[in-house]
Amino acid sequence: MKIFVCRICGEVYIGDNIPPTCPFCGVAQKYLGLAHVWKDTNNVELSEVSRKNFEDALKLELSNASFYKCASKTLSNTEVALMFKGLYKVEREHAEVFEKILKPENLPEINEACEDDVAACLKASQDREERAVEFYAKALSEATEDRVREVFEAIMNVEKDHIVLDEEMNKKYN
Ligand SMILES: [Fe+2]
Ligand SMILES: [Fe+2]
Repeated sequence: MKIFVCRICGEVYIGDNIPPTCPFCGVAQKYLGLAHVWKDTNNVELSEVSRKNFEDALKLELSNASFYKCASKTLSNTEVALMFKGLYKVEREHAEVFEKILKPENLPEINEACEDDVAACLKASQDREERAVEFYAKALSEATEDRVREVFEAIMNVEKDHIVLDEEMNKKYN
């Protein structure tokens, strides 16, 4: 058995083989490494613009997590509800990535609503993921710190994967 750590979210996966993506935050395999060589890189001095983008990223992820939680509990279609349950976990983990670096005293209270309708939820999900990718692309272009660039790029690519998932599910359920 081996112990793998994700360089982006810091979560630990124990198993015989390296997973294809982080089972917690969904980033690519290249960000996973063995525990004995892991280093905490979260003590980073943030520029003003990166701090602002991290705060916005935290809000964006909490908002998306809240929406997915609502959709996972509201929808009666099992497959789509389970997809949203999975997305809720991933977006909550993304929020934690920003929390770990920002260390805010308290979290913004964000409660999103959702419709009891598969097509509407899938459409809302795709809109949210597209906005997320657009936001991360801009945040990445504004970042100068290596750690900040690494985090924005890794998470942006996870949101791109979510758009692909939304497109597939939209085809199936619309
Ligand atoms: Fe996310
Ligand atoms: Fe996402």
